[in-house]
Amino acid sequence: MKGTKKEFSKEAFKSMRQTGAVAATSKYSVKKMLSAIDFSKDIVIVELGVGNGVVTNQLLDKLGPNSRVIALEINDTLFDLASSTLPEDGRITMHKHSAFDIDNLLDDLGVGQVDYFVSTLPLTMFKKEDNNKLMTKMCHYLKPSGKYIQIQYSPLKYPMIKRYFSKVKVGFVAANMPPALVYFCTV
Ligand SMILES: C[S@@+](CC[C@H](N)C(=O)[O-])C[C@H]1O[C@@H](n2cnc3c(N)ncnc32)[C@H](O)[C@@H]1O
Repeated sequence: MKGTKKEFSKEAFKSMRQTGAVAATSKYSVKKMLSAIDFSKDIVIVELGVGNGVVTNQLLDKLGPNSRVIALEINDTLFDLASSTLPEDGRITMHKHSAFDIDNLLDDLGVGQVDYFVSTLPLTMFKKEDNNKLMTKMCHYLKPSGKYIQIQYSPLKYPMIKRYFSKVKVGFVAANMPPALVYFCTV
């Protein structure tokens, strides 16, 4: 994973509007994000924005044998990077697919409900209508007992998220580049 950090930063910088980052999420932020997941259960996790796979790797480390991760990445270079570096594991499927069209993918895969959406998507880079589409679709698939977990570098999108989710808990991680907020949202 260490070796892919440089490649991620290079591509992230080149495709700034799509990635909204210059560095991969820190291990402290990943730990914070995943702290809200109950890995003792058989769960379906949808990861939005794999990048170099820094979150995906940790998910796989903690995931039970009967759980699964459906991982989405839209950037060609980052998709290839993650696909070639993530371990072979029957519990994960990687998709070069936009998060905005998550409904088509979940329907194709026969997934009716999702336990957790884990997202590092750069919401502040997206058009208002795309964010609204994404929130509506996640709310549709998310179990009442589930969570949408989102990292952000600013509180800008908090009011928008709050419109869709009844409960939004906010965490802060100083040890991230830049320091980050993590939203834990329940429908
Ligand atoms: C801030 S980077 C985070 C990457 C990595 N998960 C991490 O935590 O370091 C956001 C990622 O979301 C991807 N992305 C942006 N828009 C997307 C979309 N509509 N669907 C899926 N992935 C998208 C970007 O290409 C980028 O890899």
